[in-house]
Amino acid sequence: MEKINLGASIRAAGKLAPVPERPHKIELHPSELSLIGECPPDYPLQKKRHSFEFLRDIAHLRPRTNALGVMNRFRSKMAYAIHRFFQERGFYYIHTPIITATDAEGAGEQFWVTSFDLKNVPVKEDKVDFEQDFFGAQTFLTVSGQLEGEIMATALGDIYTFGPTFRAENSNTSRHVAEFWMIEPEMAFCDLDDDMRLADEFLMYLFRFALESCPEEMKFFNERIERKRIETLETLVKSKFEIITYTEAINILKKAKKAFDYPIEWGGDLQAEHERYLCEEHIMGPVMVRDYPRRIKAFYMRLNDDGKTVAAVDVLVPQIGEIIGGSQREERLDMLKEQVKFFNIPDQNLWWYYDLRRYGTVPHAGFGLGFSRALMYMSGMANIRDVLPFPRTPRNAKF
Ligand code: 4AD
Ligand code: MG
Repeated sequence: MEKINLGASIRAAGKLAPVPERPHKIELHPSELSLIGECPPDYPLQKKRHSFEFLRDIAHLRPRTNALGVMNRFRSKMAYAIHRFFQERGFYYIHTPIITATDAEGAGEQFWVTSFDLKNVPVKEDKVDFEQDFFGAQTFLTVSGQLEGEIMATALGDIYTFGPTFRAENSNTSRHVAEFWMIEPEMAFCDLDDDMRLADEFLMYLFRFALESCPEEMKFFNERIERKRIETLETLVKSKFEIITYTEAINILKKAKKAFDYPIEWGGDLQAEHERYLCEEHIMGPVMVRDYPRRIKAFYMRLNDDGKTVAAVDVLVPQIGEIIGGSQREERLDMLKEQVKFFNIPDQNLWWYYDLRRYGTVPHAGFGLGFSRALMYMSGMANIRDVLPFPRTPRNAKF
């Protein structure tokens, strides 16, 4: 018979024998053996621990490794837990569009969607003539399902989305990808406090689910990825989230005996180094930061009574930083228009968003959890590329 190398696919029959002293516990002593698919000796996966960097270059084979196998199974179970959490609470699952004409975050980080022949793009008065494009208007891959989520929440009550979102930001970091799945609940008749309560319950539910319903995966992560994963999650599910305001966060950072690369000033964005300091060296765990300055957040967030901050919340965790971004939405039409003006956002495509306020407006709020970032936190995996089966990052979308 041909040589059966590592990686070959075989059919075997024989006797199972217990081997309690070995990790796999049972062995097969074959009496019949046949080769189904051979594997040459240059099979890239050998019986040794390969680095995650090496495995990323062979993304078509890496799901066969222990680590990525466990991760992909964990991903599937956690997706189920997410649906279960919302369905048990009466939230409706909404499929928001992937192709959209709006920029939900107003950050201009969108991939264009077009059916133009790129070698011959129609032009009118020196500008691309999108009227001749497939949808008769310029369209993009969505960065978030939130705005359409608001349409549905103001019709049905509590809804959630769980779908792919896309960001054309050129960030080559261990926590950014260009395509990621986001979970976005949106609730009518809710304010920021209700929103934060939901985020707290949701995350705790996921952590508990991981501990109770994925014990094999968690054991693997604990032994092979990060030594304190189980202990950290177990402590967390017994506690409540710490909550501070952005202003308190700035004061903490100002007092910190640490040299930051970016200056700390009220009004500035919290950089990753600041977020990590707050979690890892001050709070020593996850924290919710609320009431950010208006200028550094999105146009749809509700202006607080101080006129300077908005009803926003970010959930920050050690090692990663932000895993959730949420807010109460500006439900007052005049204030929303004022926000749009403040940010200089073209609003010809926002008429329907205004209508939601014009016709029976209602306080509402929601948040977005990055699925992959949540998986990073629960598994202890350091790079987002290793929790995704097919990560899309700048200059990398091979298969
Ligand atoms: O804070 P973000 O941009 O918020 C929104 O998109 C809101 N519309 C959500 C809402 O209120 N419904 O993104 C939400 C989360 C982040 O906290 C982060 O976990 C994840 O999405 N995220 C990314 N994950 C991976 N790669 C990226 N490039 C990400 N950008 C955001
Ligand atoms: Mg955010």
